[in-house]
Amino acid sequence: FNVPTAVNEPVKTYKPGSPEKEAVLAEYKRMWNEKIDMPLYIGAEEVRTGNLREMRPPHDHQHVVGHYHKAEKKHVEQAIAAALSAKNDWENLPWEQRAGIFLKAAELIAGPYRAKMNAATMIAQSKNIFQAEIDAACELIDFLRYNVEFMTQIYQDQPKSTSDMWNRTEYRPLEGFVYAVTPFNFTAIAGNLPSCAALMGNTVVWKPADTQAFSAKVIIDVFKEAGLPDGVINVVMGDAAMISETVYASPDFAGIHFTGSTGVFKDIFRHIGANIDVYKTYPRIVGETGGKDFIVAHPSANVRQVVTGIVRGAFEFQGQKCSAASRAYLPKSLWPAIKEELMKDMATLKMGSPEDFSNFITAVIHENSFDKLASYIEQAKKDADAEIIAGGGYDKSKGWFIEPTVIVTTNPKYKTMETELFGPIITIYIYEDKDWKSMLDLVDTTSPYALTGAIFARERYAINEATHALRNAAGNFYINDKPTGAVVGMQPFGGARGSGTNDKAGSAQNLLRWVSPRTIKETF
Ligand code: ALA
Repeated sequence: FNVPTAVNEPVKTYKPGSPEKEAVLAEYKRMWNEKIDMPLYIGAEEVRTGNLREMRPPHDHQHVVGHYHKAEKKHVEQAIAAALSAKNDWENLPWEQRAGIFLKAAELIAGPYRAKMNAATMIAQSKNIFQAEIDAACELIDFLRYNVEFMTQIYQDQPKSTSDMWNRTEYRPLEGFVYAVTPFNFTAIAGNLPSCAALMGNTVVWKPADTQAFSAKVIIDVFKEAGLPDGVINVVMGDAAMISETVYASPDFAGIHFTGSTGVFKDIFRHIGANIDVYKTYPRIVGETGGKDFIVAHPSANVRQVVTGIVRGAFEFQGQKCSAASRAYLPKSLWPAIKEELMKDMATLKMGSPEDFSNFITAVIHENSFDKLASYIEQAKKDADAEIIAGGGYDKSKGWFIEPTVIVTTNPKYKTMETELFGPIITIYIYEDKDWKSMLDLVDTTSPYALTGAIFARERYAINEATHALRNAAGNFYINDKPTGAVVGMQPFGGARGSGTNDKAGSAQNLLRWVSPRTIKETF
């Protein structure tokens, strides 16, 4: 299995005056005025239904950057038919040819498409340049490169044979088509979910989030330029419930690769359960959903590390990562020092549009999110057991801007300690140092999720105790670092409990879900 060794794409810095900064700004300006027209991609066709939905940047909701065409039921059925008709040729291509397409796509993103990927993600999802770069460029490139390496690891895993008996495993794709459903918050996830199933020989119907349409279009254009045959990944957008119900009604539905909300994921199980007699094969259900991710500091923690962990973990990309820290448990003995440092850092966080590269915080994704976050802030202003010590402001006149906000509560079960908010709000509970161990139990039992978490401590016994006590509380557990920013090939990502099926994005384990192995025994 001779494939290039996967290397992580270096993160560019976009310093003032750098050519990469100028390239992104030029692309941003061009795309801002382009009035993009996003069709559905069904087989060889770009389908324009004429039923349009506008796309508006979250940081400037009066500006229309373009529109996408909404699918009707018949288009979803056509997309399924296109995936099924492309399947035979695609799965029978030598694996090298499938791999070559996605390796080529990685190089297109690393080079000529990098500025476009970043600009689209800055416009559509309001990421600042650094957040766009680590997502739409580096993480997506890494997924594409590493998945090829993971695929060869899988193919190499073969049973024992003897001189007169040859046993082998064929890693065949699933029988039918795969449905990929991707969220607004990561362009890398949008690229990874359909492409890793396709790499393993499946054909796909892909429904990107409508707030992601802009970057989804760049992704599918890159895949096609890299040589992806028609019908291998078909893109449909529009009414999510209608699209999903049409997919789940198909006897050829073979699996779903989902990232999104917990509520929707539970509904997926219900729909699939209700249709179970329809399917030719038990559908694979792979999903990553919500989180209520924690930061825990022990009295031996390094204050600077804790503060950086809170600020970066909670507020990068406006707290809209499923991995974002949204509850913190800090010891009383360290709180005065942590608070002082935290207030200093909070005062430096600039908020505004992403085309100003010095802005750390930009807008949240849409009005619903803005309204929900603003209502939690207003409630905290009224509640006797909560105090807002930083932020607490919001403004929707131009974009959906919520100030990075720190709530301190005396109640460890306060609403915002338990509920996923998906925004730039962290709630802090100060515990008595002597309660370290019972506090760990509290962390474990306070939320139904188990995605990410971070503990900060210098004492080895404390690291060990927390690692053990919180063994089921986070699929990605960080010691002395923020709970966000998993790197492909280094920290396979995913969680259990209410956070998903824990089929680790960025691992061979995940790719195994997209194959249906055949064992062959031949005697001589
Ligand atoms: N994989 C993303 C992170 O680790 C969600 O932040």
